[in-house]
Amino acid sequence: MAFKLSLTSFHNFSISIDCTQKKFLKNPNLILPSLNTFGFCSIKVSNSSKVTASIARGALPHAVKEEKAQTIQTQVAEINPSSSKLVLVVGGTGGVGQLVVASLLNRNIKSRLLLRDPQKAEFLFGKQDENALKVCKGDTRNPDDLNPVIFEGVTHVICCTGTTAFPSKRWDGDNTPERVDWEGIRNLVSALPATLTRLILVSSVGVTKYNELPWSIMNLFGVLKFKKMGEDFVRSSGLPFTIIRPGRLTDGPYTSYDLNTLLKATAGQRRAVLVGQGDKLVGEVSRLVVAEACIQALDIDFTQGQIYEINSIEGEGPGSDPKRWKELFKAAQIQ
Ligand SMILES: NC(=O)c1ccc[n+]([C@@H]2O[C@H](COP(=O)([O-])OP(=O)(O)OC[C@H]3O[C@@H](n4cnc5c(N)ncnc54)[C@H](OP(=O)(O)O)[C@@H]3O)[C@@H](O)[C@H]2O)c1
Repeated sequence: MAFKLSLTSFHNFSISIDCTQKKFLKNPNLILPSLNTFGFCSIKVSNSSKVTASIARGALPHAVKEEKAQTIQTQVAEINPSSSKLVLVVGGTGGVGQLVVASLLNRNIKSRLLLRDPQKAEFLFGKQDENALKVCKGDTRNPDDLNPVIFEGVTHVICCTGTTAFPSKRWDGDNTPERVDWEGIRNLVSALPATLTRLILVSSVGVTKYNELPWSIMNLFGVLKFKKMGEDFVRSSGLPFTIIRPGRLTDGPYTSYDLNTLLKATAGQRRAVLVGQGDKLVGEVSRLVVAEACIQALDIDFTQGQIYEINSIEGEGPGSDPKRWKELFKAAQIQ
């Protein structure tokens, strides 16, 4: 059922960069355009120091589709009218994170956000009652920002932080994969209370084979290696965890939408979900599906201590039906 990842079929745009030049890493004008975290690129390595990247126009964030597909709003309306959970979302302004937050709000699940720029939360989610959504300022790279007060009362954590795989403006201030996906995760996990009920980490497919093509291309600046180091730290932390490894992300980020519009986002026809284990899937997945998987996994006991890979394809999906998600996660473990 796996999809073939095409890294060579896009021709819309290309640039060359010399990776040996120090200024390359410092100068934001020498960036690869950032379309999303992994900046979907077709890349040719012409020799050991030069990289040519072609950016896919087709990879531009999809518009929100409002056709007949179910909306998050209608999907979740009947679920969980109230909850004793307090979910800390780290990276809640990102593509997956914003959908997680919107969905938690819509489910009446209390949440807390750990963000570098709290203003972004107000822009995305509007003014919210602090009981429903409290925003804390912090950068996961700085252990001093991770004040225990932030974690007080938190029962669950969903971490969706990330940066671009290739140098981009989002690396400004040294916000590189090493700093975010490794050091940031290590700092966050070290700061979390031992009483936590679950930590969900959004990682990536390919992390166990970053030395193999095509993953080695994605890993040119270490993103997969550092994500794996982050995963390993989570696994050895003693905290109850679930790791979700998405394929290439589609749908969003909807960073120019407000909460109501965000809640109308749909995965269009691609609502069927593939869940596996073992880093075998190659394909893409809607951010809506990843966000839903994170939220569903919080309540499924047997997902604790497990790592799942996830893709989505055309067809009917589980929506927000807990029973169908349970079956999907269970089937992945049996395969
Ligand atoms: N794009 C893909 O195809 C792909 C494929 C597989 C896996 N993934 C992974 O899936 C996850 C979600 O991806 P996405 O595209 O939805 O993410 P995204 O839009 O890139 O969002 C990343 C989030 O991390 C936050 N962040 C970055 N650096 C931070 C720091 N130092 N301290 C605190 N927060 C920080 C960002 O906040 P700011 O607003 O402060 O920057 C943002 O909220 C990421 O881990 C990504 O690497 C992506």
